[in-house]
Amino acid sequence: MSKKLLVLPGDGIGQEVTASAVEVLNYLVDANNLDIEISYNDVGGASYDKYGEPLTEEVLKEAKASDAILFGAVGGPKYDDLPWDKRPENALLGLRKELQLFANLRPSYLFNELASASPIKDSIIQGLDILIVRELTGGIYFGEPRSIESDKAFNTMVYNYDEIARILKVAFEAASKRNKKLCSVDKANVLEVSKFWRSITNDIAKEYPDVEVSHQLVDNAAMQLVLDPNQFDVIVSSNLFGDILSDIAATLSGSIGMLPSASLNAEGQGMYEPCHGSAPDIAGQDIANPLAMIGSLSMALNYSLDMQNISSQLDSAIKNFVSRGYRTVDIAVKGEPTLKTSEVAKEIIKILEEG
Ligand code: IPM
Ligand code: MN
Repeated sequence: MSKKLLVLPGDGIGQEVTASAVEVLNYLVDANNLDIEISYNDVGGASYDKYGEPLTEEVLKEAKASDAILFGAVGGPKYDDLPWDKRPENALLGLRKELQLFANLRPSYLFNELASASPIKDSIIQGLDILIVRELTGGIYFGEPRSIESDKAFNTMVYNYDEIARILKVAFEAASKRNKKLCSVDKANVLEVSKFWRSITNDIAKEYPDVEVSHQLVDNAAMQLVLDPNQFDVIVSSNLFGDILSDIAATLSGSIGMLPSASLNAEGQGMYEPCHGSAPDIAGQDIANPLAMIGSLSMALNYSLDMQNISSQLDSAIKNFVSRGYRTVDIAVKGEPTLKTSEVAKEIIKILEEG
């Protein structure tokens, strides 16, 4: 049966980087006779402009019927003053919640050739290869009650046992396939939710005797990521802490424009998006780096479309692209020639053609 892929470019540079990824995808489909049905729709601000909603019922229905979703980015200053439920970000949160995409995988790795683009010293950053596993459908992002009133506002941080156990299992599985080290990040010196999280981590650790488990408090973990990122293999954390830590981790690699991500549910359906946002400041200039989006396409081929072979070809092509010295402006060192967004896919395709 053919696989279904829904493409949701969204706003700002989401449009540009998605166009690049689709160009690569179309090449892969033709060259390998892949059986993928591709459809397109609007999301975020682009959807609000047309339909008055950031996420329409139609898109939600299509998303639920897809094996994988390629999601560009949403948001922009134009939408900043809209009421909360009309804001573009709500599309992202809605898709995560409705599809129960609880497992967010955010790798952060350094292409060694790009070490000079990292804000961190070479000696600290060389060899960086971390995976952040972030819980994505629970915690303070979705907890009830929540409210903003004239004299106070509140949110609720809540996790039940099963929500914690299932994300921990994803993290332990990932660690057991990598370097067998898992660091669980919490705030167990203050929060009950974190104490609970920590005790479940210790329970589940018994099922993975080959994985070395450690715990760090989130404030310390933020510092450790900058001081000595290579101490980490897999990091697992709750929705809010994982959000913050994954931005730090992404920055280490030199450009947030390099890093893909996957958000998976229990059935293996997934939404794939670059770690960066819609970058309104550079939108429309054809200078965004589409590698994070092309890498997200590779993750989709790997995790949801069951085309691991094609995914590794694409990963190698991305590595080759970088090692041959091709650069977009975000990763170029002073004076290096740069490619436009729209030129990147063509070079990646040339490398793929070489086989
Ligand atoms: C992310 C983003 C989102 C989040 C926002 C846009 C709602 O920062 O995917 O990391 O906080 O999860
Ligand atoms: Mn974030």
